[in-house]
Amino acid sequence: MRVINETTITDAALDQMSSTPDPRLKQIMESLVRHLHDFAREVDLTPEEWLAGIKFLTSVGQTCTEHRQEFILLSDTLGLSSLTNALHDKRATEASTKSSLLGPFYRHDAPMMKLGDSIISRSKGTEIVFYGKVTDAAGKGIPNALVQIWEPDETGNYDLQNHDPSIMDLRGCFHADAEGGYYFRGLCPLGYMIPMDGPVGDMIRAQKRHGYRPAHIHFVIGAPGYRELVTALYIEGDAHIDSDTVFGVVESLVTKVNKKDPDSPLPYLPSIRYDFQLARETDKASGRVGADPSQILKKTPVATKA
Ligand code: BEZ
Ligand code: FE
Repeated sequence: MRVINETTITDAALDQMSSTPDPRLKQIMESLVRHLHDFAREVDLTPEEWLAGIKFLTSVGQTCTEHRQEFILLSDTLGLSSLTNALHDKRATEASTKSSLLGPFYRHDAPMMKLGDSIISRSKGTEIVFYGKVTDAAGKGIPNALVQIWEPDETGNYDLQNHDPSIMDLRGCFHADAEGGYYFRGLCPLGYMIPMDGPVGDMIRAQKRHGYRPAHIHFVIGAPGYRELVTALYIEGDAHIDSDTVFGVVESLVTKVNKKDPDSPLPYLPSIRYDFQLARETDKASGRVGADPSQILKKTPVATKA
């Protein structure tokens, strides 16, 4: 009979899972089990600690709704989301703008707007113009690229945090012009604290972390034939630029606000100029490390037997 003890159990689990037909699922699950067992052995996990972990993950799941994704927040605060982004960027075969977190506040149904429009519908704060070009790896403009944007209001909250889908503010979608140019008006980005009223907030407090994200604005940029770019622009000088709670800051994404900019399409406003570079698509890999919470909870139809 097979002997199961604290060391042989790993091979026993791997042997049992070896029948998995999907090779990638097999690879991922084998590695996960190996690391999970090594982790339990390394910390000499006690039953109480195991149960605390189960309770924590249960609470993370119970906190998820159509408007809130606590599991994404957990992944973000553990650095797993940014690590996944970095691995995604490494697989690009051409130079491109670095990825940054999609986060838990993306919405797939933001309104389509015209270049130069303002994404501000309710909020008050300093208005600013964002402009630049969407180009390919060689610097050639990508006509008609779709630019999706979202940012928090002056109190540090996204519209989704009102838990009312009819409230839409500080989001918009724009098509770049024939040269790949884009511009729109929004709020001057501000820093904010990640949602701290759930189990992830409890974890952050237990670790004595500050919970802040530096000032930023989110972008998802796509065009047929190019890898979709999920990124954000960060603002130089923010107090938390080097200690982002979700590890999203990459040096090349740090920008500055220009008070006077004669090149701006709206020179009477402060501006941020940034050119985004998209790599050619070589596979259908998504760069979205995050999601619209309402879409995650959508039931996928279960295949029925004939
Ligand atoms: C965000 O930037 O929207 C965000 C990302 C990760 C966690 C919380 C918020
Ligand atoms: Fe954000």
